[in-house]
Amino acid sequence: MEEPIGVFDSGVGGLTVAREIMRQLPGENMIYFGDTARVPYGSKSEETIIKYSKQIVRFLLSKGVKAIVVACNTASALALDVLQQENDIPIIGVLEPGAIAAAETTVTKNIGVIATVATIKSGMYNYYLRKIDPQITVVSKACPLFVPLVEEGLTEDRVTDDIIQRYLHELKDYEIDSLILGCTHYPLLRNAIGRYMGEEVKLVNPAYETAKSLKRLLQDKNMMNTQPEKGKYTYFVSDGVEDFISFADRVLPCDVKMTSIVNIESY
Ligand code: DGL
Repeated sequence: MEEPIGVFDSGVGGLTVAREIMRQLPGENMIYFGDTARVPYGSKSEETIIKYSKQIVRFLLSKGVKAIVVACNTASALALDVLQQENDIPIIGVLEPGAIAAAETTVTKNIGVIATVATIKSGMYNYYLRKIDPQITVVSKACPLFVPLVEEGLTEDRVTDDIIQRYLHELKDYEIDSLILGCTHYPLLRNAIGRYMGEEVKLVNPAYETAKSLKRLLQDKNMMNTQPEKGKYTYFVSDGVEDFISFADRVLPCDVKMTSIVNIESY
């Protein structure tokens, strides 16, 4: 099937998921939508996040997508169920693939989860982890300042190291051996977080795991694009094309010239 995969996020962070899809499914066409006018979702209510996510799904469906990846952890935590119930095409989120990988990795059965305030409050990572193995203990921590630090390009900076220490020191009191990077931006802090937590804590990147489950899903449902060309990518945002492009240039392995603005409120 040549139809594109729709990928959406509250803004630029979901490009970490898009990047993994490009690497693992290089033949797939993709439409990315970043809700840059209404970001952040991580501090918004469930009702608002569901409303925004439904509008974005309607937009992506109007572009003829064959499947949708909710790249945003916050939207996956709060809106995925509703989106799956209301639509016929496959829709996957980033939480369950991340939880499965962490449950496979842990030996101590103590898993750390870091994410936005809304994702942590939803308890959805705990839900998925304990559904897989009720003996798992989850230690969660919201790290709201990580998003602006990444967007400012401060992935390797003393300020960031200080904030990491401030947020994560309490996780060191528990014997966690895996830590889920439960927000789109956090994989970009992987080196700094890894340095602080130490080698014995494995960092789980839900973006990578989600691309793997998307691949499995497309294969199982016979939905892969079998055309020999490399996939084509189109980008849409709700505001701020230039900022989007400059962030994308830092994250993606390819050029992001084709970016258009969408009036998402009209969907
Ligand atoms: N994309 C969001 C997430 O993964 C982070 C940014 C936001 O708060 O909107 O949870």
